[in-house]
Order: sequence, then C-alpha cells, then structure tokens
Amino acid sequence: MNQTNTWNKVDQYVTERLLPHDAVLEKVLSANQQAGLPAYDVTPNQGKLLNLFAQMQGAQRILEIGTLGGYSTIWLARALPADGQLVTLELDPLHAKVAQANISLAQLDSIVEIRVGDALYQLAQMEEEGVQPFDFIFIDADKPNNPNYLKWALHFSRPGTVIIGDNVIRDGEVINENSQDPRVIGVRQFYDLLAEESRITATAIQTVGSKGYDGFVLGIVNS
Ligand SMILES: C[S@@+](CC[C@H](N)C(=O)[O-])C[C@H]1O[C@@H](n2cnc3c(N)ncnc32)[C@H](O)[C@@H]1O
Repeated sequence: MNQTNTWNKVDQYVTERLLPHDAVLEKVLSANQQAGLPAYDVTPNQGKLLNLFAQMQGAQRILEIGTLGGYSTIWLARALPADGQLVTLELDPLHAKVAQANISLAQLDSIVEIRVGDALYQLAQMEEEGVQPFDFIFIDADKPNNPNYLKWALHFSRPGTVIIGDNVIRDGEVINENSQDPRVIGVRQFYDLLAEESRITATAIQTVGSKGYDGFVLGIVNS
C-alpha cells in the first residue's frame, strides 16, 4: 500500500470502529457534494475530535470562522448544552444556504447562528454589537487572513478560551520560508503571531489521513 492509501484505510478503520453510523452527518456530506461545495470539510474523526475538545472544555459558546456546508459546525454544536450558542461566519451565500439546511436537518437551528459575509466585517460588527466572549473558537476560513482571525479570536476570548486553527502544516510547505503561496504565508504569519503573543499558550500537531498531510494549532488563552 502506498502512504496515502494507508492513511485513507486507517481513517476508514478508525471511523468504522469509533464513530457510530450517523445518518444526519452522511446526508450533510452528500448535500454538500450535490450542491457543488468543495470537499474542504474536516474528516469524521477530526469532527469528532473537535466535538470532544469542546466537551472537555465545557464550552457553552463557540465561534467558528469558515462554515462551508456546516459539517464541522454540527460536530461542534452537538457538544453544546441545549441553551448553548454557536456563531459561524461564512462569506459565500451558497455555502451558507446549504449549511442552514444542514443545520435544520440536524435540528440545531436554536443553537447555531450563521452570519453571512466577509468574516472580518462580521467580526467588527459583532464587536459593535457587544457580542460576549466565546469559550471555544475554531478558525477554518481563508488562510491568508489567519493572523487577522487570531487577533479577533483573542478579542472574543476570556482566560481559558480554547482556540483551534486548521490546516497549519499544508503538506509540510509551512517550513518553506520562500513560499509564494498566500495560504502558506498566512499560516507562517499565524505562527509568528502565536510565538510573540503572550496571551496564548499554543502548540501544533501534524496529522495524516484521508484529507492528506496537514495539522492543527491548539491554544489556550491565558489572560
Ligand atoms: C475550509 S472551508 C470550512 C470547512 C468547515 N469548517 C468544515 O470543516 O466543514 C473554508 C470556508 O471559509 C469560507 N471563507 C473563505 N473566505 C472567507 C472570508 N473572508 N470570510 C468568511 N468565510 C470565508 C469559504 O467560503 C469556505 O466555505
């Protein structure tokens, strides 16, 4: 078996063993595909990892930047109590429309609010509206803006808030200091900011699986 084939098969093995069949999430993925959305959603085992992190944290309020079709949104929202709240930000109106239908299918309308438009604009609006801090923040939108999203995430944090940033390894390209790829440049700036920012303690983990070689940053806000 080549490497990618092994990663795929191991993801399949883990999913079959540890993730019970979930008709809603399967319908969500096929609705996303039918609507022509790119398959950038987290994998099932990654979705469950997000869900477990949010549960471990006892999150009541979650912010997600980058909704797509709402697949990770649903995993995260399911970690919340019935009176919890999840705000998710999405630029593309088609993605948001598909996500809204998926969230209704998952019966999470009362918990999830999708805000449509550029995330930086939405975050500034939320500041004006006096939106309260979040317990858990998942950054998974356009990577060139990662440093800006981290600044906003810190703004909407309290001591103890968990911040996760996806796709921070990028096939190992993250170590290429000469990369001209704006996503790699954004992710490298994200690390620089994390390194110099005393308000957050963070690490990054490399991952392999059915979506290739990548990884995530996990941090906790200190003050
Ligand atoms: C990687 S996908 C999100 C995947 C999703 N979190 C999941 O795992 O199911 C990134 C999403 O961010 C959205 N996006 C890109 N630029 C954005 C921006 N400036 N503001 C808000 N959303 C943006 C894209 O349209 C896309 O739907």
